[in-house]
Amino acid sequence: MKDFNYYAPTEVVFGREAEARTGQLVHKYQGTKVLVHYGGQSAKRSGLLDAVCRSLQEAGIAYVTLGGVVPNPRVAKVREGVELCRKEGVDFILAVGGGSVIDSAKAISIGVPYEGDVWDFYLRKAVAETCLPVATVLTIPAAGSEMSNGSVITNDEGKLKKDYCTDIFRCKFAVMNPERTFTLPAYQTACGVTDIMMHTMERYFSHEDDMEITDSVAESILCTVKETVFKVLHTPDDYVSRAQIMWAGSLAHNDLTGCGTVGDWSTHCLEHELSGMFDVAHGAGLASIWGSWARTVYLLRPTRFARFAVNVMGVPNDFTSPEHTALAGIEAMERFYHAIGMPTSIPELIGRLATEEEIQTMARICSDNDAHTIGTFKPLNMQDMIDIYWKANR
Ligand code: NZQ
Ligand code: ZN
Repeated sequence: MKDFNYYAPTEVVFGREAEARTGQLVHKYQGTKVLVHYGGQSAKRSGLLDAVCRSLQEAGIAYVTLGGVVPNPRVAKVREGVELCRKEGVDFILAVGGGSVIDSAKAISIGVPYEGDVWDFYLRKAVAETCLPVATVLTIPAAGSEMSNGSVITNDEGKLKKDYCTDIFRCKFAVMNPERTFTLPAYQTACGVTDIMMHTMERYFSHEDDMEITDSVAESILCTVKETVFKVLHTPDDYVSRAQIMWAGSLAHNDLTGCGTVGDWSTHCLEHELSGMFDVAHGAGLASIWGSWARTVYLLRPTRFARFAVNVMGVPNDFTSPEHTALAGIEAMERFYHAIGMPTSIPELIGRLATEEEIQTMARICSDNDAHTIGTFKPLNMQDMIDIYWKANR
């Protein structure tokens, strides 16, 4: 078990009508003029945006609004938010939405006090030293951005999707009312569940094997989400099931399942290129590539994959062959993806084969022209990435 620092400073306010407390919470964290940042239509249509604004008014807090954040949030909207915050003297940013809105809010938060262009952070040309405080009223359990230290932003110029990580813009608080996720379409629910499971699996597939508590927490998250997703797909307003998934989303990406281990993150890196290139939903992109990654690496440590197969996927243990059990687990995971409506290949993801040029471009960007590898379970160079994309392109 490796040494670790565990830092999860976000105050979580969880439960029915939790959004009514937003104004008090902003006051507690000393916000006086708020940017209420949101996405397309969902938060407006459901009345959540009104409820949040009402709560701010009741707490006597001034605010301005900026909507229009799209999935795979764009740097152009971030720049617009930076300008608006400066002009209006905003001192607190409230993201009402999912990972895309939160990531856009985090980007604005570091952009406001920075003299240069906010994209510099994502290109690793600058380090954020200060930011406006950020908080969220979460509407989709998926990205885990409500408790993570990351923000992922897309730049249409060059179809680049890049992350920036810093503890300073972690959310001050996260309001989570599972009722607010009842309106999620089945596809977004499934994408979210896939991302929650992947955040756990990226940390689970490691070469450590003396971290029983971390493994058990991870397996519990994976099993709970895997069973519960069918209940919410069948009954979207099942509060208890929505609540299990919502809390799992935060636990999966607040580093709890990373204590004592190092993450791999290859599947995420490969997926960010897919959503940068094809503008697909992040969760669906992960499902489309994971099996090809797993088949590429599992023989390095079949016992780890066999444990996953037995404890998470419920595959019978073939004690004579961990390799056999491991492969059965990968196949079972892909059957699960199909059962919840997720793709397991690039053609299923984008509706056609990727071209050779697209595959080369994604691998080139992902590896910075073969300047670095990704992943820790098996470090992957540019050629490995190309091979995995081809494997998924069937
Ligand atoms: O825009 P609206 O109309 O709100 O619709 C959204 C959007 O179309 C809809 N939605 C959200 N809540 C809803 C709802 N529809 C009905 N009812 C509700 N309650 O869902 C769609 C997807 O929303 P989005 O915010 O894009 O989803 P998600 O939370 O999955 O975020 C994905 C983004 O997060 C990044 C991904 O790369 C992607 O860009 N990630 C961020 C991470 C982080 N910051 O730590 C880590 C992740 O690995 C991930 O990379
Ligand atoms: Zn993710």
